[in-house]
Amino acid sequence: MSNSTPANYQNKPFTSPRDPEFLSRRINRYYRDRVMSTWSGGHIMRGLTPSSDAIHLSSNDYLSIAQHPRILQAAANSLLSEGNGLLMSGIFLHGANPQLELEQRIAHFMQAEAGILCQSGWCANTGLIQSIADEQTPVYIDMLAHMSLWEGIRSAGARPISFYHNAPEHLERQILKQGPGVIIVDSVYSTNGSICPLQEVVEIGTKHGCVIVVDESHSLGTHGAQGEGMVAMLGLSNKVHFRTASLAKAFAGRAGFITCSRHFSDYFKFESNPAIFSSTLLPHEVASLNATLSVIQEEGWRRTKLHSNAAQLRRHLSDLGYNLNDSQSQIIALESGTEQQTIVLRDALEKRGIFGSVFCAPATPKNRAMVRLSINASLDSGELERIAAVCAEIRDEADMWSWSSTQRSLANKMLRVSSLPETAPI
Ligand SMILES: Cc1ncc(COP(=O)(O)O)c(C=O)c1O
Repeated sequence: MSNSTPANYQNKPFTSPRDPEFLSRRINRYYRDRVMSTWSGGHIMRGLTPSSDAIHLSSNDYLSIAQHPRILQAAANSLLSEGNGLLMSGIFLHGANPQLELEQRIAHFMQAEAGILCQSGWCANTGLIQSIADEQTPVYIDMLAHMSLWEGIRSAGARPISFYHNAPEHLERQILKQGPGVIIVDSVYSTNGSICPLQEVVEIGTKHGCVIVVDESHSLGTHGAQGEGMVAMLGLSNKVHFRTASLAKAFAGRAGFITCSRHFSDYFKFESNPAIFSSTLLPHEVASLNATLSVIQEEGWRRTKLHSNAAQLRRHLSDLGYNLNDSQSQIIALESGTEQQTIVLRDALEKRGIFGSVFCAPATPKNRAMVRLSINASLDSGELERIAAVCAEIRDEADMWSWSSTQRSLANKMLRVSSLPETAPI
């Protein structure tokens, strides 16, 4: 018998079964409402192809270590010696094991009692919330917290109670109405780069007997003397019950992490669905993250450079009239507003070789779409000047003065000026 492709498979186009009405109606709605009517037949995420001298500001590799030779060597050595290891769920790991050792090492680095490596930040957040909240638990969540945290609340069947972005007084009013529960915030918000008033949130949470969860995806590696994150940097490690992080940002890998008590870590591995029902990391991912942690701790100059690059660009863009929505970090968003306005902004930037990430619903509220610029440590002064020059040049083409974000900041400035005393105090 021949083992070549059977004759009846040759030259036959593969076809999918016809979608039933309820599914085709749903898919067609996307093509009609978004692709055709909002994006005029194009796609908001797909602009120009970058040329070789383009500046890429869409990667979350804030410390520019994705090509670090020490990290690549560690991954390569592991792959060549162990291959893909044992393919299984993390619940089967025990005894002396590099993954469990790395959990301890990262936990110690973040000044936590224990920690859990997850397959991604998404798995960390959904798994954590699903295993600490249920139908009876009020879950207080900042309106701008990451979608994975909302998804965790949904899969827990818990009650989400949102509070205004970075408004601890609103959080406290909500707790007074609904009782103690879980508080969820991001340390640095992924859409606009604003920073959570962690001290106040933690004070409120502690006062009212709540469980506090802080997503440190955009501060782990970038904040703190050695990159230990914002909670540790502020001396709050012993007051925050859980910190989560995607290790696909400054750690430039593919994993997630949760800090917790030793008591909790074993419980989590047997209670959280992503931990039980999805395979764990591969050995070369663990080896590479182990090397990454050393690089992050030892190469502090990368953090210094990142923060000075980000501060310089924020200053330039604010001077140009862009409303940066309180960004105080390496995430800088140009909030163009509608999706059509965002396509115009994207094209104006990309034509001039600047490639950011488009964010629109469901990642942002409707009509608050934006192009997000993620700053990194390897941008040099020439590149920073080029980005600022392009942002200056495109203001009219992108109609920046008419964006509602610009109007908001102009109105705030007017309000501040009108509330000044008429004569300056002597
Ligand atoms: C704040 C925050 N949390 C969680 C995640 C999810 O992380 P991952 O990409 O590792 O699943 C992201 C990624 O977009 C994020 O920005």
